[in-house]
Amino acid sequence: MIFYYNDRMKPLIQAFHDKNTGTVTYVVYQNDGADCAIIDSVLDYDPKSGRTSTASADLVVDFVRAHRLKAVWLLETHAHADHLSAAPYLSRQLGGRTGIGAQIAVVQQAFARMFPQRPGIERSFDHLFQPDEVFAIGALQARALHVPGHTPADMAYQIGDAVFVGDTMFMPDVGTARCDFPGGCAATLYRSVRRLLELPPQTRLFMCHDYPPAGREARWEVTVAEQSENNIHIRAGVTEEQFVEMRTRRDATLDMPVLILPAIQVNINAGQLPEAEENGVRYLKIPLNAF
Ligand SMILES: [Fe+2]
Repeated sequence: MIFYYNDRMKPLIQAFHDKNTGTVTYVVYQNDGADCAIIDSVLDYDPKSGRTSTASADLVVDFVRAHRLKAVWLLETHAHADHLSAAPYLSRQLGGRTGIGAQIAVVQQAFARMFPQRPGIERSFDHLFQPDEVFAIGALQARALHVPGHTPADMAYQIGDAVFVGDTMFMPDVGTARCDFPGGCAATLYRSVRRLLELPPQTRLFMCHDYPPAGREARWEVTVAEQSENNIHIRAGVTEEQFVEMRTRRDATLDMPVLILPAIQVNINAGQLPEAEENGVRYLKIPLNAF
């Protein structure tokens, strides 16, 4: 299957912004009653009580049902470090296959020492996308772009005139994603973002997160032209050397995300929670002095 960029193909996109983690979940579809993809879903998790909740995911379920959509894909742009995926819950409620970039194997490997993994983890996702793989969401044609840098496995999903960029860029006034997680690389992120910004200027870009500066409402949609002109880290004219220097200096000042340890052990396993132990309780593991 060959991918044709077709900017008359404008999918309908419903965004769900999770205030707790700044994550945006998207439902992408052509029209009511059609197939849809759900990108980067959130299972609510309260680290203080250890409680999970499907309140955020249920908003997505309600929307999909209200529009008579058939969920065919539950996509992850990468193994998130800031929230747990709700893909297994959505799959039980709505159906659909989970998908992530094939390089997730590198991320699973990187965390294997810290989180001893159940056998077969490499098969925990229903589908592993190869770079530039073309796939269908009903009549919508989609392409999985490999955009490493934040992690080795990051994908962006190009669907009609829209691209879901994952953790590559943020809104222009916030910049770009950090590159200091295992396997991250600022020079690689620079090249990935440059590739996205070579898309036609009117291409709609949808962020995976927004962390708005004080006084600005959360936003998540921007064009290639606006990013090229205004992105504070990587607008046109910023060289790779300048970007790597800035990114490396900035990453050295950042704390670990609050949910990285709970999130990673669940998300590298396609969002599956650990099995219950003999007492019927599931446990997440917190490795001490390993990260
Ligand atoms: Fe991320």
